[in-house]
Amino acid sequence: MSQSLITMSYLAATILFILSLSGLSHQETARRGNYYGMIGMAIAIIATTLTLNGAVNAYVVLILALLIGGSIGAMAALKVEMTQMPELVAIMHSLVGMAAVLVGYANFMDPGAALSGAEKTIHELEIYIGILIGAVTFSGSVIAFGKLSGKINGKPLLIPLRHWLNLGLLIFVIGLGQVFLEQTESGGGLYPLLIMTFIALIFGVHMVMAIGGADMPVVVSMLNSYSGWAAAATGFMLSNDLLIVTGALVGSSGAILSYIMCRAMNRNFLSVIAGGFGTGTGEAAAVEGDVYPIDAEETAQLLLAAKNIMIIPGYGMAVAQAQHTVNDITKLLREKGKKVRFGIHPVAGRMPGHMNVLLAEAKVPYDIVYEMDEINEDFPNVDVTIVIGANDIVNPSALDDPNSPIAGMPVLECWKGGTTVALKRSMASGYAGVGNPLFVLENTRMLFGDANDTMQAVLKALQG
Ligand code: TAP
Repeated sequence: MSQSLITMSYLAATILFILSLSGLSHQETARRGNYYGMIGMAIAIIATTLTLNGAVNAYVVLILALLIGGSIGAMAALKVEMTQMPELVAIMHSLVGMAAVLVGYANFMDPGAALSGAEKTIHELEIYIGILIGAVTFSGSVIAFGKLSGKINGKPLLIPLRHWLNLGLLIFVIGLGQVFLEQTESGGGLYPLLIMTFIALIFGVHMVMAIGGADMPVVVSMLNSYSGWAAAATGFMLSNDLLIVTGALVGSSGAILSYIMCRAMNRNFLSVIAGGFGTGTGEAAAVEGDVYPIDAEETAQLLLAAKNIMIIPGYGMAVAQAQHTVNDITKLLREKGKKVRFGIHPVAGRMPGHMNVLLAEAKVPYDIVYEMDEINEDFPNVDVTIVIGANDIVNPSALDDPNSPIAGMPVLECWKGGTTVALKRSMASGYAGVGNPLFVLENTRMLFGDANDTMQAVLKALQG
């Protein structure tokens, strides 16, 4: 492949990646965005493997690796449930981190071209930083996977003086970098590199272990950003422009997403990165009071009597796969002249946009789906709110209990409306593991059962 053709292919892939990102920012264009990304990636892989000067010549190994890796990826994607998506994403990030570490070591042991002077120092710095970011991303993502899949306790592990420990590790790693550069002059440097890798792995573990349940979404998008920077660092080590650009795109978009999520959750970005800030210091208040159960028939009567209805979906709707029944109910109520809207919390479910994806799949019209900020003020005008398998995102203690682990996080303030009907199977807590006073308020009714079963029963009652 000629150099100009490769450059053109890289340019085309870059443009497709940018189009992909912009496509993914809206529900209507998300599918198209995915296609752009897939085509861009195919072009990138073909152009890279057909690089000039025989830089790539082990085609059999490459095809085998592509087949094995591709099949594992395809199998994982086919098998994974929608609710396990964040875990899959976390473990994928860990692979990017590991790739950066392995490429770094391979580059260190066999630099390819003989470099000298400033060029050599820059290359070694690239290796050092690449392995550093890669190792933090790897171990942090493995812990995030463990926490999201419930294999590791979601509670924050808060070591005393942890911020001083982090600062000490950072200063030590910078000093070690200096030692590494000095030792590489005389052909050494492996030991400082190994020690730094070990410290970076510990740092990644510590950083994510210190994050509490409700802040996990920010950590996942932050690790997404880190994996981008790790890929960019790999691009520098391999002198591959496309990998640098792609890594930077992922790195910066992940950072922007983390920032947006921090703002949505009223968290300080730096505090979340440092780990453990913003988590309550005392015990969250216990929830006491009477629970008022309701059945499907009574819920249907409430809905028929209401004019203005809000639906708040949460993780439980995803578990129950109730979105199609919810859409049928929405259609029916709208045909009866009711105003029906959906309120979406930025961290509802287990991944950014989780609820939007489910509602889009069920063909709920986009124009009745609102972000939290757009509708929160309107709850006093709402007659009935149906909370479907949501818990943390409608927890009033986030606003009035400073000791709650979710203190300060904005929530959907449905209790300010007429009646709230909460659908869940039991009185169990949500992801953050805290009790929810909403469920014992006088204007709340609990509709117990699997959300799809209860929604089906409500639909039947509405039809009959
Ligand atoms: P949660 O607070 O986790 O509450 C979900 C509720 O759904 C649970 O209380 C559960 O109660 C109920 N449920 C589960 N399966 C059900 C079923 N089949 N039928 C009916 N109800 C069911 O969810 P949320 O309100 O959506 O809040 C999201 C939480 O996840 C936040 O804390 C957020 O920080 C965290 N998180 C979010 C993300 C992203 S990016 N969205 C990523 C990681 C973590 P029962 O067991 O009693 O049924």
